Amino acid sequence: MKKLFQILILISMSLFLSSCYYDAFPEELDPIDPDEEVSYKIDIMPLWGQCVGCHNGNEPPDFRDEFSYDELLNGYVIPKNSESSILYQSLLGTNGVPLMPPSSKWPESKISLVKAWIDQGAKDN
Ligand code: HEC
Repeated sequence: MKKLFQILILISMSLFLSSCYYDAFPEELDPIDPDEEVSYKIDIMPLWGQCVGCHNGNEPPDFRDEFSYDELLNGYVIPKNSESSILYQSLLGTNGVPLMPPSSKWPESKISLVKAWIDQGAKDN
């Protein structure tokens, strides 16, 4: 009985120790394969988590999940033309559009993901 108890302690300790290991959240996403289709729901929408704190209905564009696509296509995104899209310009802070998010520019990998989505036609996929 004592032995069983010791084994149980050992198992739970090793579980506890291994649970301490975690992957740091990768700041840089994988490079984009130009042949791979970017998905709005899977790849793009989660990025708006860093925008919705301010853009939640009062400050346009509205980045809440249920509104973001329609809102963006209503003037902020020109499908297949990222360079002329206010959304893309806001991530770069170019063409007189204020840099978004205001505190710090996104890493290149996130910006080019948004660019790829727009240039692939800004699909609701
Ligand atoms: C700290 C609050 C805040 C955060 C976070 C934020 N924004 Fe903004 N955003 C603003 C404000 C305020 C404006 C209005 C323009 C201005 O006065 O700067 C704005 C304007 C915009 C505009 C419209 C620009 C124009 O010329 O019409 C876009 C597009 C935009 N934001 C995109 C984003 C994106 C994309 C993110 C996330 C990556 C983001 N914002 C995060 C506060 C924020």
